[in-house]
Amino acid sequence: MRIGIAQTSPVFGEVDRNIAEALDLIGQERADLWILPELFATGYQFVDTAEVRELAERVPGGSTTEALVEHAHRHGCHIVAGLPEQDGDHLYNSAILVGPDGFLACYRKVHLFCAEKEHFTPGDRSFPVIDLGIARIGMMVCFDHLFPESARSLALQGADIICHPANLVLPDLAQRTMTIRALENGVFTATANRVGTEARTSESLTYTGQSQIIGPDGEVIGRLSQTDVGVFVADIDVERARNKRITDWNDVLGDRRPDQYKL
Ligand code: ACM
Repeated sequence: MRIGIAQTSPVFGEVDRNIAEALDLIGQERADLWILPELFATGYQFVDTAEVRELAERVPGGSTTEALVEHAHRHGCHIVAGLPEQDGDHLYNSAILVGPDGFLACYRKVHLFCAEKEHFTPGDRSFPVIDLGIARIGMMVCFDHLFPESARSLALQGADIICHPANLVLPDLAQRTMTIRALENGVFTATANRVGTEARTSESLTYTGQSQIIGPDGEVIGRLSQTDVGVFVADIDVERARNKRITDWNDVLGDRRPDQYKL
């Protein structure tokens, strides 16, 4: 199976242009599964909640979902990407999975970061795993990386690949935690981060790039630069994520002792 991560540099509010640039980028390589950044079409730094409401879309049915479905259909691939979702009065920082036959799943970010807490409702649907036949796909978004429960919850449901759209601003943090999430769960992780700077409020945010694909031994399969737009694709053996044995005696998930944990 071939998976790809795309590292983009969206211009805030220029949704059509950002979608076109992202699809152009991933259209240049073949992959079975692509991962795009968090809020890839809108940009990240909203000045107020009204702005989120203006740019948020229904899922499925909104124009960003439709554009991704159309691309997935034309190229015979699957895509995970982040977007602001509107459902009634609620706004969610969501990630969707689409494939050649249409919309498949939506995940609503559970752990909100900084000002996201002012604009979005925390996710209410837990962490989803979708079986595509060629692999079982799990989704989480950006700051979820800091909470081991996110990746563990996906691994316990059988995820082979954890797709991780992100807009990371804390230097080198998720690059390290996601290496551990892959290792401690015996899964592949694919983080698609963005680059560039947004300074739409008194705070200037510089996104840290270094999007990466990590293997089940915690090895870096590939990592993009800190500053440049680009893609990285890798052929992976999904079966590696299904063997959780680390010695003849030990199994990464099977040796857990939930009766001894205070959660
Ligand atoms: C983040 O969750 N966007 C850091």
